[in-house]
Amino acid sequence: MYCTRKITEGITWIGGSDRRLALFENLFPIPRGVAYNSYLILDEATAVIDTVDSSISRQFFENIQHTLNGRTLDYLIVNHMEPDHCANIAELLLRYPNMKVVGNAKTFCMINQFYGIELKDDQTIVVKEGDSLSLGKHKLSFYFAPMVHWPEVMVAYEETEKILFSADAFGSFGALNGNIFNDELDFDKDWLDDARRYYGNIVGKYGPQVQMALKKLSSLDIAVICPLHGPVWRNDLGYLLEKYDIWSKYEPEEKSVAILYASMYGDTENAANVLAVKLAEAGVKNIAMHDVSSTHVSELIGEVFRCSHLVLAAPTYNNGIYPAMLNFLHDCKALNLQNRTIGLIENGTWGPVAAKQMKEILDGLKNMNVLEPVVTLKSALNDASMEQLEKLADAIAASLAE
Ligand code: FEO
Repeated sequence: MYCTRKITEGITWIGGSDRRLALFENLFPIPRGVAYNSYLILDEATAVIDTVDSSISRQFFENIQHTLNGRTLDYLIVNHMEPDHCANIAELLLRYPNMKVVGNAKTFCMINQFYGIELKDDQTIVVKEGDSLSLGKHKLSFYFAPMVHWPEVMVAYEETEKILFSADAFGSFGALNGNIFNDELDFDKDWLDDARRYYGNIVGKYGPQVQMALKKLSSLDIAVICPLHGPVWRNDLGYLLEKYDIWSKYEPEEKSVAILYASMYGDTENAANVLAVKLAEAGVKNIAMHDVSSTHVSELIGEVFRCSHLVLAAPTYNNGIYPAMLNFLHDCKALNLQNRTIGLIENGTWGPVAAKQMKEILDGLKNMNVLEPVVTLKSALNDASMEQLEKLADAIAASLAE
């Protein structure tokens, strides 16, 4: 049965949610599920804006059929060609053979690559930056947003109702539970962590491109943002735009500390706990701690985007960095993370090298300020390493107070 909601009189949300999928992109845990948003505009002409993942195809087609109410589909706008949004193009072409597909040159190349579909000229409208498509009262203008999150990405702005169809930008992990609008849910409490984790892991590498897109969009009068995942934003847009501005500049969202530790037998964890207590006694609040072996790396990346200060504590392993910590650091590098203040704790029973190697990776990232001293444990905390730990706690507290 159809399951839709009206965005405005002429624009309907025809997406759906998947609560069965364990790993988004077969990589990122999504215990709260994920929504695939799609939108249908009813005017003199009809248009669907992006399709959905194949997991919810049945719901999608029931939604389209109900919303069209006997009319045909004139246009499919393809803003993004990742298969979580374009999996139903072939089926739409079969059901609505006169439908025209609207995209850019890269879009059509990808349609062919993924699905072996070579669309004829009279089946396509190839748009360039700033081109428009009139549907009647509604008029869509297209703006390219390359690498937010793939090279073919564009966004569509509907100027009559001031609606931005923003592709992956402004999206979030999390299924939509009837409440599809941001003003129907407690975003800060229930969504922000997943929105940050989505941004950091999916789009995080492309901060400069997000900045370019934000600059381009700043000239538009936007009342509603319709992303491809997560809630539709129809008020308080400044909140969301500010988050995107901060994240895409790789600035920390908060002045706060996350201690990320790896520990084989509890001794490095003990040092992390002692440091946390010393920081608390120095007045530091809301300290976060994560065991990197049991916390998914996508959560750790979310914490990096949130926190100004990170403490990385790891044993030496095979004359290198403990694997779970090394994996996290590789992700930091891949995502181009910058501008953080770091404390380092290493452990090594006979030849500690983890801190030196962690620092080498951090030195390859932009503007990572590694505090002194580095704390070195030889198996377990002792008086000498405790003294280093106290000094590191002082340095972190002083840096936070700046
Ligand atoms: Fe939700 Fe880049 O696809």
